[in-house]
Amino acid sequence: MTNPLMEEPLISFGGGIRWAADELTRCGVEDPILDAELLLAATSGMTRSQLHLHWNDALPADIRQKFAALVQRRCRREPLAYILGRRAFYDIELEVNPAVLIPRPETELLVEQALAWLTDRTACAVWAADIGTGSGAIAITLAHRFTNLHVWAADRSLAALALARRNVQRYHLEERVNLACSDLLSATTAHFDLVMANLPYLPSERLVDLQPEVAQYEPRLALDGGELGIDVIARLCVLLPSHLNPSALVLLEIDEGQGSRVSQMLGAALPDASVSVLPDYAGLERIVRAELIP
Ligand SMILES: C[S@@+](CC[C@H](N)C(=O)[O-])C[C@H]1O[C@@H](n2cnc3c(N)ncnc32)[C@H](O)[C@@H]1O
Repeated sequence: MTNPLMEEPLISFGGGIRWAADELTRCGVEDPILDAELLLAATSGMTRSQLHLHWNDALPADIRQKFAALVQRRCRREPLAYILGRRAFYDIELEVNPAVLIPRPETELLVEQALAWLTDRTACAVWAADIGTGSGAIAITLAHRFTNLHVWAADRSLAALALARRNVQRYHLEERVNLACSDLLSATTAHFDLVMANLPYLPSERLVDLQPEVAQYEPRLALDGGELGIDVIARLCVLLPSHLNPSALVLLEIDEGQGSRVSQMLGAALPDASVSVLPDYAGLERIVRAELIP
């Protein structure tokens, strides 16, 4: 990587951004200008609009050095969220690190479905489970909004749970978000009103074809759904009947093409449920929703 940042003492903020965007473009990064600006904003402590106000000002040597190091990491295709250590999700911001999947915009659809259902249930306590909680994205977003919501948030990964704990503390939700190390529902005998799960759903053989940011940096445990992609979801479906309260709602995130298989499995496990497949904003199958009919 050529580095005029180190060789050219009078480079400006704008010149630094242009240099970084060129480097990131060469390395195949998708949004090179945006990433360059966000990395310089993080290094300098400025917002992106402040960077533009200081476009022609000289970039101080200490900022230059730190910025160049972050650009190098991004050039190796390390995800921006891991470099910055944070990611916005719905209306909150979460700490993230390589122990957890970076929360995706698609998962906001699951959150919206849960929010719509919870809006009619604010009068009494609601008991929810977030299976495969990762950073805690789903559990924290919902518990942050609904003070009557209690979430059992489980993950198999202790490293993910350690990070989720910090996110729970950040939003002062220790009283209502209970983190547990569990293979699916195996560590609890509780019954829930709402079960949500964004479990790994990619077929194992597709993992090698993913972009480097995902394949090389995100945890395999968060991605690998076995031969057809639905092995973990299938195991959860079998466990659900002994963990649901009457009138419970189940929301499972899936990948395009898994809707009919997963809705069949869920329908077989919960014969009294009304089951539907919901598309995301791109029109792709994204959620299987099952509501127990009392
Ligand atoms: C796709 S990530 C989702 C993380 C988070 N819920 C989100 O939406 O951003 C799946 C998570 O499930 C966890 N996981 C995988 N298999 C599991 C299992 N059998 N039981 C519990 N958690 C599991 C992984 O460690 C990972 O954190």
